[in-house]
Amino acid sequence: MNYLCPSILAADFWELGRQIALVEKAGVPYLHIDVMDGMFVPSISFGMPVLECVRKKSKLFMDVHMMVKKPERYIEELIRLGADGVTIHVEACDCITETLLKIRKLGVKTGLAVNPETPVSAVFPYMELVDMVLVMTVHPGFGGQKYISSCFDKIREMRRVINQSYPEAKLEIDGGVTLDNLEENLAAGANVIVTGSAVFKGDIETNIQEFLKRM
Ligand code: DX5
Ligand code: ZN
Repeated sequence: MNYLCPSILAADFWELGRQIALVEKAGVPYLHIDVMDGMFVPSISFGMPVLECVRKKSKLFMDVHMMVKKPERYIEELIRLGADGVTIHVEACDCITETLLKIRKLGVKTGLAVNPETPVSAVFPYMELVDMVLVMTVHPGFGGQKYISSCFDKIREMRRVINQSYPEAKLEIDGGVTLDNLEENLAAGANVIVTGSAVFKGDIETNIQEFLKRM
């Protein structure tokens, strides 16, 4: 089963509620929430108040992508405000095992992400504690970047390991995904597909329908 996971980073924030309602109405299960701290990545996006606001009005699975140094500082608060899954980066956390355990103990899904320059083997030691691996397909920090093609091999490698040993784990990709490279990404083994610009720029309903048709 493949899932579309629209990233609100590319939404029109003036229209955020209305745009999220369109995503929900289209039958998409996930919403990707990009939290940036201006340290782990150069930019700053949004955080707790946005999560809280979305949770009050939407039943979508809130997939929170923490592009934040020392994400362990925020786990309880994110979950209290309604995150359904929290993804941390291997590059950003010195206590990965403890943090994943804490996320699980608080009853939500765990995610572990790798940047384009980090080999997927960096997540292998933690796989027993990981519900979803996130392979970044751009350098994190900004929407609307070009997909980095060398990531296809990483997705294939991660898919092999998941199929062999952790068949329950999901494999998410994030960055530069469009209708043009979707098929190749699915074939490589990704099954949670984050898309920002390709969903929120232009006509959201049409964009989502086009993605769903091909998934
Ligand atoms: C990038 C974020 C992505 C971003 C993807 O750092 O993690 O989730 O929103 O946006 P697009 O699909 O426009 O590359
Ligand atoms: Zn993201």
